[in-house]
Amino acid sequence: MSVSLMVKIGNLTLKNPVTVASGTFGYGEEFSEYFDISQLGAITVKSLTLKPRLGNPPPRIVETPAGMLNAIGLQNVGIEKYLKEKLPFLRDKGCTIIANIYGTNLEEYQLLAEMLEKENGADAIEVNLSCPNVHDPRFRNKCPLIAQSPEWVGRYTASVREKTSLPLIIKLSPNVTDIIEPAISAEKSGADAVSLVNTFLGMSIDIRTRRPKLKNIVGGLSGPCIRPIALRMVWEVSKAVNIPVIGMGGICNPEDAIEFLIAGAKVVAVGSYVFRDPYAPIRVLKGIEQYCIEHGAKDVNEIVGSLVIQ
Ligand SMILES: Cc1cc2nc3c(=O)[nH]c(=O)nc-3n(C[C@H](O)[C@H](O)[C@H](O)COP(=O)(O)O)c2cc1C
Repeated sequence: MSVSLMVKIGNLTLKNPVTVASGTFGYGEEFSEYFDISQLGAITVKSLTLKPRLGNPPPRIVETPAGMLNAIGLQNVGIEKYLKEKLPFLRDKGCTIIANIYGTNLEEYQLLAEMLEKENGADAIEVNLSCPNVHDPRFRNKCPLIAQSPEWVGRYTASVREKTSLPLIIKLSPNVTDIIEPAISAEKSGADAVSLVNTFLGMSIDIRTRRPKLKNIVGGLSGPCIRPIALRMVWEVSKAVNIPVIGMGGICNPEDAIEFLIAGAKVVAVGSYVFRDPYAPIRVLKGIEQYCIEHGAKDVNEIVGSLVIQ
């Protein structure tokens, strides 16, 4: 039996519903030594900023039970180097590209979106409104994330929407009481999809020195430990909006990914787990196809949102 794995985000058709989470797959080069990365539905690249960033000082990674804390702080090559040196590789490979962008203000987001569209630098744009690692944690109460305010999510979404006709994905933060409101706000303001979740704010302390293990004090928690919470949020959001949901958070294997599809995600992203198993995205893809065959689904969209509640 042949299965159609195609899914749509706005006017973009992905050949299958599997991508990778921004920041865990670089710009694809290293991973293409393991498998043909163009087989994935899309490659989501590390957050891009206007200028290159070195990120936060080390230590900026800590292992946790069933996951990791990171405080990388958006280290990246910057948009110009991406366009010149990273994009050609991805285009040569024939990858569908989701470019993730981060700006320190609204105008920067707009400019990044314009540059990407003008230079054919992406097939879709993911707007990172939810990085927990770029503010001084001691002043967090004065400087919340954009994604923590439904109103700001609306304003930023609408402003980027004005500047690009590329499919627009808004990346939401799980560090909220209610994940539905920002998702609805993104949809109302012109988003073609929402992606969730980014990492959960956490910290870890070395009890011998009584110092935080991360130089940044706090960091973003990811990996299998967050999966049930991410799954719950994806389920809540996909019932509340009519645009596609890109689900992520602790996906390690096909079974995890299928849970997200059943909960309502149209696309799934493999994140931190690629550090343990670089083949994970391709195993997830094959496993989804196999699941469709075994369950008589001719089209993966039949699985999406198929949760049974008695
Ligand atoms: C090392 C690391 C770097 C990340 N960098 C970014 C980033 O640059 N932009 C972004 O939107 N999300 C970033 N994330 C968040 C992931 O894209 C993803 O939302 C999160 O890790 C949850 O998925 P996971 O549990 O499968 O890793 C990063 C995560 C990790 C672990």
